Amino acid sequence: MERHDLYGPIHKALRLLQARTLTLIGVTDFSDEAAAARTIGVVSELLHTAAKHLEHEEAVIHPLLAARAPDAVILLEAQHGEHRAAFAEFVHLAGRIAGADALERPARGRELYLALARFMAADFLHMAHEEQIIMPLLQRLFTDEELIAMEGEIVASIPPDELTVLLQAMLEALSRPERAQLMGGVRAGAPPGVFEQLMQATACAVLSDEDLIDLNRRLAA
Ligand SMILES: [Fe+2]
Repeated sequence: MERHDLYGPIHKALRLLQARTLTLIGVTDFSDEAAAARTIGVVSELLHTAAKHLEHEEAVIHPLLAARAPDAVILLEAQHGEHRAAFAEFVHLAGRIAGADALERPARGRELYLALARFMAADFLHMAHEEQIIMPLLQRLFTDEELIAMEGEIVASIPPDELTVLLQAMLEALSRPERAQLMGGVRAGAPPGVFEQLMQATACAVLSDEDLIDLNRRLAA
């Protein structure tokens, strides 16, 4: 039987958001003040999402894992500490772009581009470690019911607008069967009427017509 996976879907979404943001920085003409400001806004949203993701893992998963496998958590939290240092660097670099003139901004935009690329390289390794080393460990130490309860605790702590952003990104990043599994789980936990609103705000907003038809067909099966 396939075991419950806490990391796979959300990490696919985070990789998509990071890759999209890096590409956006890459195509931005930083000499254009309005374009630079728009890109900085997207970088700020990514930072918020990434910082919240660390908090969710640390608030719910790490204490439970630490009780049964303390050593496993030490490395994870050290890596999270490095991520927070990278986030502080992004804020600093974004401030330098905002404070620069049109001639200086492109070089500072390139610094931000390379800083995000370096962070992504580290975070992609970190997320792969979580999926390939930590998730099997969690699956050995906890039942699926316990893993699903951890996920439920994290989801319940996320404000609706942030949950919408995460669900949109997960739907964009997942395969068709994975989308149906995700939204089937959301439907099972949502009060009546709320699921239809969530579908409107997420799947209907980001999926192609073909993908939406496929998702609705799978959810109806
Ligand atoms: Fe993590």
